[in-house]
Amino acid sequence: MLKLKRILVPTDFSDFSEQAARYALELATRLEAEEVHCLHVSEIPADLLSTSAYYMTGPSEQFIEQIREESLKSLDAFIAKNLPGVTVRKAFLEGRPFVEIVRYARDNQIDLIVISTHGRSGIKHALFGSVSEQVVRKAPCPVLVVKRDEREFVMP
Ligand SMILES: Nc1ncnc2c1ncn2[C@@H]1O[C@H](COP(=O)(O)OP(=O)(O)OP(=O)(O)O)[C@@H](O)[C@H]1O
Ligand SMILES: [Mg+2]
Repeated sequence: MLKLKRILVPTDFSDFSEQAARYALELATRLEAEEVHCLHVSEIPADLLSTSAYYMTGPSEQFIEQIREESLKSLDAFIAKNLPGVTVRKAFLEGRPFVEIVRYARDNQIDLIVISTHGRSGIKHALFGSVSEQVVRKAPCPVLVVKRDEREFVMP
C-alpha cells in the first residue's frame, strides 16, 4: 500500500493556507502519517522593502530580528490552531518561498505537499498564485492543491 509518511503544509498564514492545513490534518490522521511538516518561508528583504523604515535608516539587525520573532510566533499560532493532535515538525526558512518549499520537500523526503491555490494576495490571480504554481511545477513529490471554496472534506 502507498504510504504517505511525511506531509508538508507550507503556510503564509493566510485563510487559504488554513484551508489547506485542514486537508493535511484530515489526510494525516486517516492515512496514519508519521508527521506533518509545517513550513513558513520569510521573504525578509522583500518584507523590509515594503516598510518606510527601510528607506529612512536601512534595515537594522534588530528590526530583522523582530520580523523573525513575529513570523515564528505566527507559525506557532498557525500550528496550534490548525494542526492539533498530530506530530508536527515546525520549519522556518528565509528566501524565495517556492525555492525553499521545493528544496525542503526534497531534503526531508516529503511524500505529499498540501497547498492552497491562493495566499495572501488573495484572488487577484485567476487560477494559481505564483508560489503554488511553481511548487506544482517543481515539486519532487505529488502536490494536493486545495482550491478556494472547495467542498468540505467531511460531509455533514
Ligand atoms: N512565504 C510562504 N511560505 C510558505 N508557504 C507559502 C508562502 N507563500 C505562499 N505559500 C503557500 O502557497 C499558497 C499559495 O500562495 P501564493 O503566494 O501562490 O498566492 P497569492 O499570495 O495569492 O499570490 P502571489 O503571492 O503570487 O501574489 C499559500 O496558501 C501558502 O500555502
Ligand atoms: Mg503569495
